[in-house]
Amino acid sequence: MALHMAVEVVRDSETSLTAQIQSFIKREISEGILHPGTRLPSSRRLAHDLDVSRSVVVEAYGQLVAEGYLEATQGAGTRVVTHIDAAPPVVPTLLDEGGHVPAVRWDLRTGGRNLPAFPRREWLGCYQRVLQSAAPADHDYPPLAGEPGLRAELARYLGRVRGVRATADQVMVVAGFAQALGLLCAVLRQDGTGALGIEDPGHPGQRQFVQESGVRPVPVPVDEEGIDVEALAGTGVSAVLVTPAHQFPTGAVLSARRREALVRWARDTGGLIIEDDYDGGLWYERGPRPLALQRLAPDHVVYAGTASKSLAPGLRLGWLAAPPDLLAQLLRTRARHDLGTESLTQLAFAELLRSGLFDRHLRRLNAHCRDRRDTLEEAVRRYLPGARVIGRAAGLHAYVGLPRGTDEAALVAAALRRSVVVRGGAAYHVRPRWDAPALVVGHAHLPRSGVAEAVRAIGEARRLR
Ligand SMILES: Cc1ncc(COP(=O)(O)O)c(C=O)c1O
Repeated sequence: MALHMAVEVVRDSETSLTAQIQSFIKREISEGILHPGTRLPSSRRLAHDLDVSRSVVVEAYGQLVAEGYLEATQGAGTRVVTHIDAAPPVVPTLLDEGGHVPAVRWDLRTGGRNLPAFPRREWLGCYQRVLQSAAPADHDYPPLAGEPGLRAELARYLGRVRGVRATADQVMVVAGFAQALGLLCAVLRQDGTGALGIEDPGHPGQRQFVQESGVRPVPVPVDEEGIDVEALAGTGVSAVLVTPAHQFPTGAVLSARRREALVRWARDTGGLIIEDDYDGGLWYERGPRPLALQRLAPDHVVYAGTASKSLAPGLRLGWLAAPPDLLAQLLRTRARHDLGTESLTQLAFAELLRSGLFDRHLRRLNAHCRDRRDTLEEAVRRYLPGARVIGRAAGLHAYVGLPRGTDEAALVAAALRRSVVVRGGAAYHVRPRWDAPALVVGHAHLPRSGVAEAVRAIGEARRLR
């Protein structure tokens, strides 16, 4: 393999060429520029490229092997050793799960892994069609607000399925809800809005993300009807982040009464509502489902959705619909950060929407999740008497209320000893409700038998603790 490597050597130096090569490679490894496991060129190739004698390189490599920087394996050449301490990876605030979790049999945490299979065949078909028909302009930088074809499909889809009131030019494609929230926080800061109401309980990463974006998160309590609007009004904030369709993590659906009250609050105060419709495509109860809050007050609500819960978080694909002035501000802010969302993914998603394959995928996903939810309910009845599944109409996870008096933290610890990692309700609260212990159980990614087994293990943990 004719590998190349950039090495700086000075010919008329007092330091020998061997020592120069040796110290250069050592420095590059120490500074993380040459990464663990990197394969280096053969001594013959490097000597040729540097125009030095081969013995110079052989000696330098030999010294570095002796000092533990490189390893030479017969047939596999010379590599940087893999066990050198590299800088710890930066974990995004939204994904920081608070430390190391040992390998376990059942991981019930919500988040990226809590998703059933990706619709590979459908995606591949759409991607292929897009690639076959892509014009040269489709490989250019995408428009910052998103590919026009996807914005049009999203406007149609969101109107049809979620009742969102938006034309295509009020829709913006973003890199997941994370980017929508980052941009919104930046705009709030620019406008002098220093605080954002957030639901308590809510997404702990979002709370920290808002804080680190320079906006003060102000917790507002949630009950079985969703966010407490009176309490919100009492905080004096002028913007709030809510999950009305399926409160995260309790699963409460914002009641009609509260929806009206929330919209009234926004109109009376000139407030802004950020509607995080993170699992908007999921609803597995029969009968009508709540539509987007945005439709009630499109001038006061930014609606935001994501493909993370229906397709895959790795796509980094999300969308928002905002009042025109705010959308323009969001675009101006984004213009300082990136050059848009990857275009082929956008076009493939537009094709998935246009062809109806996304609707079909959601039907299957909903049937799958309903099945896991039913299995969870049955397992909770059987192995966790006195507990009950709350917020059962939708989602990839469920909130399991435990009987009063249960020591939630001790149960979480005992479950881990039985190889089940599950978070308690306290992990999502700013002000933990020890009088209402709970578990947040991601179920969608598990086989049916896995849901039952994991809950049985938690039940044993509770009995035998
Ligand atoms: C409450 C909530 N909102 C939004 C998201 C999706 O974020 P993103 O679109 O950045 O993946 C998640 C994902 O876990 C979530 O839990």
